[in-house]
Amino acid sequence: MNIQINTSNSEQILEHLTKCDLLFVPALSERTDLQEYSIRLEMRATRIEIFEKTKLVGLVAAYFNQGEDVFITNVSVLPNFQGKGVGRKLMQRLFAECNSRHLKSIVLRVGKENRPAISLYRGLGFEVNSREVNLGEEIEMQKDLI
Ligand SMILES: CC(C)(COP(=O)(O)OP(=O)(O)OC[C@H]1O[C@@H](n2cnc3c(N)ncnc32)[C@H](O)[C@@H]1OP(=O)(O)O)[C@@H](O)C(=O)NCCC(=O)NCCS
Repeated sequence: MNIQINTSNSEQILEHLTKCDLLFVPALSERTDLQEYSIRLEMRATRIEIFEKTKLVGLVAAYFNQGEDVFITNVSVLPNFQGKGVGRKLMQRLFAECNSRHLKSIVLRVGKENRPAISLYRGLGFEVNSREVNLGEEIEMQKDLI
């Protein structure tokens, strides 16, 4: 499976997020309208993707702001493809993208109880920089690149 960048369209993203929805902690659709979010990702986010044929299997999406940091808005892997290193591979591809743009840090927010995701991020060098965001439901994590 090859990694691609910015080839997914909002329909593929919506199909992917709908299949992953209940694996987010809490469910993604509790926090956002999946259709609007998918369109926003296609239009505004940098997307690191793994496909199987036309099916979007894994997606990391990030907003490259004008400053020196990056905000990761989504990390997701289809249930049948989890636990095979896909999430880690996508994140590492994002790091390479950040390094080539000489960016300083990457920030993300994750549900407090989302153990698989927190474990993934810790293993990649992220550290907690705030324990209380979004009314205490999420923590914020950061990885410094330089
Ligand atoms: C979090 C998620 C992206 C991980 O993707 P993945 O492809 O399964 O992860 P990988 O196979 O690359 O695993 C990398 C590391 O993540 C952690 N991890 C992955 N699945 C885990 C699980 N079920 N329990 C605990 N840790 C887990 C481990 O630290 C693992 O490293 P290891 O294999 O050396 O133990 C995936 O579980 C997912 O899509 N979850 C639903 C969406 C979500 O919650 N996204 C995060 C939003 S902030």
